[in-house]
Amino acid sequence: MNPLIEDLSHILVTEKQIESRTKFLGRDISEFYRKRNIDEITAICITNGSIIFSADLLRKVYLHVKMDCIRVSSYRDETSPVTNPEIIDHIRLDIEGQHVLLIDDVLDTGKTINRITSLLRRQNPSSFHSCVLLDKKGRRKDPYEADFVGFKIPDEFVVGYGLDFAERYRNLPCIGVLKPELQNPPEWQ
Ligand code: IMP
Ligand code: MG
Repeated sequence: MNPLIEDLSHILVTEKQIESRTKFLGRDISEFYRKRNIDEITAICITNGSIIFSADLLRKVYLHVKMDCIRVSSYRDETSPVTNPEIIDHIRLDIEGQHVLLIDDVLDTGKTINRITSLLRRQNPSSFHSCVLLDKKGRRKDPYEADFVGFKIPDEFVVGYGLDFAERYRNLPCIGVLKPELQNPPEWQ
């Protein structure tokens, strides 16, 4: 048993559920593009949160995939946003005329993905779609519908499978809610 799991008050999505959903999503995405006679996409992964999801998802996609990352910061170590999303590192690939699939870990208020979507759309991709692992619909401040969604979850701060608290827990194989007493330990700066 992984001792980090004991830091969770409860598990929302198990490792098995992630595995089967990712496989299904990969097939769904592949079919979506193949039906439109598109056999190559450019995946833009929002780091760090979507690294683990992207790695698993893209290996289930049966299309040619070019890949790049965009790094954004919108949270410090607290469990709520403290700044507006800031782009720290931009993509290097030229996406003009490409079929872009933006991948993120969680759609929360919608601020991050809206910001990145308008930025990428300005570079004239041939098509633009998005895929998020988790969707917290109840938290939306800026309207946004992702084209592909892994799981709809309630409004709770979650960690695991790429999602962090103070940069920890990204390597948890499942997704869950941290015990309240672990949500602001003073030594985690
Ligand atoms: P938004 O801009 O409010 O939609 O926030 C999206 C970003 O905030 C995500 O890419 C995550 O990095 C982070 N985030 C939002 N909710 C959570 C959560 O429950 N756990 C960990 N990170 C989160
Ligand atoms: Mg984060």
